[in-house]
Amino acid sequence: MNIKKPEYIQTKRLTLRPIEIQDLEIIQNYSIDKEWHRFLDFHTKESVKEFVTKAINSPWEEHARFSIILDKKMIGGVGLYIEMKEKRAEIGYSLSKNYWGKGIIPEAVARVIEYGFEDLGLEKIFAQTDLRNTPSQGVMKKIGMTKEGIFRKHAIAQNKRRDIIYFSILKSEWKK
Ligand SMILES: CC(C)(COP(=O)(O)OP(=O)(O)OC[C@H]1O[C@@H](n2cnc3c(N)ncnc32)[C@H](O)[C@@H]1OP(=O)(O)O)[C@@H](O)C(=O)NCCC(=O)NCCS
Repeated sequence: MNIKKPEYIQTKRLTLRPIEIQDLEIIQNYSIDKEWHRFLDFHTKESVKEFVTKAINSPWEEHARFSIILDKKMIGGVGLYIEMKEKRAEIGYSLSKNYWGKGIIPEAVARVIEYGFEDLGLEKIFAQTDLRNTPSQGVMKKIGMTKEGIFRKHAIAQNKRRDIIYFSILKSEWKK
C-alpha cells in the first residue's frame, strides 16, 4: 500500500496537519504543567524534543502524527503508531490544558480513526492509558471503544509500576 502523507485533514472545528518542528516549543510549554503530566513521564524539554524529532523523522506509514490546529494555533496532537502487517495501530493523544473539557480530543481522535480505517486500510485501533487517567478513558468511551482489559503493573511512570488499561475499536464497529 502506497501511503501519502496528507497536507491536512479537517473536522468541524479543527484542522489536523502532520507534526512540524515549529510545534516543539509549544508542546514543551504545555507539557511542563504539573496537572498535564500527572500520569506521564513525558514532560521534560529533552523528552519532548526526542519525541517530536522522532515523530517528524519516522516514515508516515509507521507513525502518522497530526498536530491539532484551532483558530490557527497548535494546541495538541493525535498520532497513530501503525503495524501495517497486522492492519492495526495504537492511537495516542494529548492537549494543552487551556483547551480541556471542550470535546476537542474526542473530535480529533474520531477523525484520525476514520483516516486510519478509510485511508490507511486499518482494521483495528487501540489505545492504552494509566488506570488512574479517567479523562483519557472518558475519551475512549465517548468515541465508542470497547474495554479490552487491564494489564497489571505493566509500565513504569514516575518511578512506580502502573496498571494500564486497554481499549479498542474494530473497523466493523466504526459508525454503527
Ligand atoms: C485526556 C485528554 C487528552 C482529554 O482531552 P479533552 O479534549 O479535554 O477531552 P474531553 O473534552 O472529552 O474531556 C475528557 C475529560 O477530561 C476531564 N476534564 C475536563 N476538563 C477538565 C479540566 N479543566 N481539568 C481536569 N480535567 C478535566 C473530564 O473528566 C472530562 O470528562 P467528561 O467530559 O466526561 O466530564 C486531556 O485531558 C489531556 O491532554 N491530558 C494530559 C495528557 C494525557 O493524559 N494524555 C492521554 C495519555 S493516554
